[in-house]
Amino acid sequence: MDMDKLVSLCKRRGFIFPSSEIYGGINGFWDYGPLGVELKRNIKDAWWRDIVQGRDDVVGLDCSIIMHPKVWEASGHVGGFNDPMVDCKATQQRYRADQLYVFGLSAKNQPPTDFEVVGGTRKLGDWADFWVSAVGASPADAWETACPRAAKLLKTKPNRLEAPALAATALYMEIAAEDRIKILAPNADEPGTLTAPRQFNLMFKTSVGALEDASSVAYLRPETAQGIFANFKNVVDTGRVKMPFGIAQVGKSFRNEITPRNFTFRSREFEQMELEFFCHPEEAAEWYAYWRKARFQWYVDHGLKSDKLRLRDHASDELAFYSTGTADIEYEFPFGVSELEGIAHRGEYDLGQHQKFSGKDLSYFDEERWERDKAGLGHNSFKEYLKTREGKPNPGYPYQYIPNVIEPSAGADRATLAFLCEAYKEDEVAGETRTVLKFHPRFAPIKAAVFPLVKKDGMPEKADAIYRDLRKHFAVFYDEKGAIGRRYRRQDEAGTPFGITVDGQTLTDGTVTFRDRDTCRQWRIPADGVVQALRDLLEGGAIPGGEGS
Ligand code: GAP
Repeated sequence: MDMDKLVSLCKRRGFIFPSSEIYGGINGFWDYGPLGVELKRNIKDAWWRDIVQGRDDVVGLDCSIIMHPKVWEASGHVGGFNDPMVDCKATQQRYRADQLYVFGLSAKNQPPTDFEVVGGTRKLGDWADFWVSAVGASPADAWETACPRAAKLLKTKPNRLEAPALAATALYMEIAAEDRIKILAPNADEPGTLTAPRQFNLMFKTSVGALEDASSVAYLRPETAQGIFANFKNVVDTGRVKMPFGIAQVGKSFRNEITPRNFTFRSREFEQMELEFFCHPEEAAEWYAYWRKARFQWYVDHGLKSDKLRLRDHASDELAFYSTGTADIEYEFPFGVSELEGIAHRGEYDLGQHQKFSGKDLSYFDEERWERDKAGLGHNSFKEYLKTREGKPNPGYPYQYIPNVIEPSAGADRATLAFLCEAYKEDEVAGETRTVLKFHPRFAPIKAAVFPLVKKDGMPEKADAIYRDLRKHFAVFYDEKGAIGRRYRRQDEAGTPFGITVDGQTLTDGTVTFRDRDTCRQWRIPADGVVQALRDLLEGGAIPGGEGS
């Protein structure tokens, strides 16, 4: 699938527009048009329905975007949420270190639109050649010393986006000033204009209140997760939850990405769908395995059925020091394979950090576990139990503990982009090529379109009545303009699963034609049964084999 075709369809049909386009746009920000807003909302609603409302062990939350700045000190974002940034003194352009790798490989030395400029491949050899010519390093040595993990990744998984990026960053960080002066920056006339890399914090800063000074500094959240941790105690105190349980949140996050790219894939403002699932440390491995599998299946069930969807376990040297397991759900986008969602076993790290920084006790007393065991332990009270464990590092354990966290963290925009890429098809219908978006019916922005075959003989009135009836239950669309074939094509491009046509026969026998988007098969049903028929089909009912298929 050609990414340019999808981007152009998204613009033309009102899925996604560049933000502030009439002023030339703003890099890394996107607006969802009339169809896009419905598509993304359907994805978020399905996630919420399946993760929160459809279960009895998860509750929801909606936190403020700006939080106390200490939250971000505790989470490690103030100190460690950085990317290495490089400036060009000649052009005043700013790059992430890994971007220079792509520029270096681009024949014309022009900023590429995406990683594909490397010629469709991202091979170790290409990459090493560039550095050899630029800095004279021996590739094998440079790789192995600067970034063994990236070197390994490149050899084993050469088409993963992160591998060259990781390696480029590592190598650029290693390059001494005398070698840097040999590199020609994109659009510069002479080599040697790039600065040493410096760490750039990705959080957007703002200030709260009328005075702008050090004490008013605040950040736009770079993830929704921390609002959940900061409210852990509040939610426990509501008394609605007991271990194990999850808290879910869907909302905007902001990252001042140095090089936003690949359409909405890496944006500066985006939406996350995050679940923090809290459990007893002894049950954490089991819950990690559960969520890893369940989240992968969710994408399959909603249409990412091709082998483009993968589940990749992080190697032990990729894991954060506090994590005992992380898996990425990855999708093979036209610009490379990259992450849709991460599922991480985060241990007690997050609540532990907030306990330390806030000074508030965030441990959980597991009453059920205590009640179950106390008789066997021979204690009447928990106080008595604690006495027997005096001097131990964690005396309340296993009844009082900092819960472990399993975190499935998904991006709503990346999911939307993956579902768009997977849905996009070009096929032949009646000798003509059509573009169709084969969305899962649950995600389709419009569930059915209603058409009068012609604009006369009472057909528009009848079709309009059917449309009004359907509109009470579903997102539907009415269209009477142009030839019926063109109207079908327009809805195929919008991803509308069903078409309902009022024709001459409707006026005599009261039936209408149903048309299936994917097979273009048609069949007739009584006009007064359309609501139920559409409901059955959207819920997965079989397409009837009918006349005129
Ligand atoms: N709380 C964990 C966390 O935020 P992450 O891997 O940084 O983990 C989770 O982000 C998800 O958020 C990613 O898998 C991706 O889907 C989405 N995401 C992250 N940065 C993004 C960006 N710049 N643009 C669009 N989506 C992004």
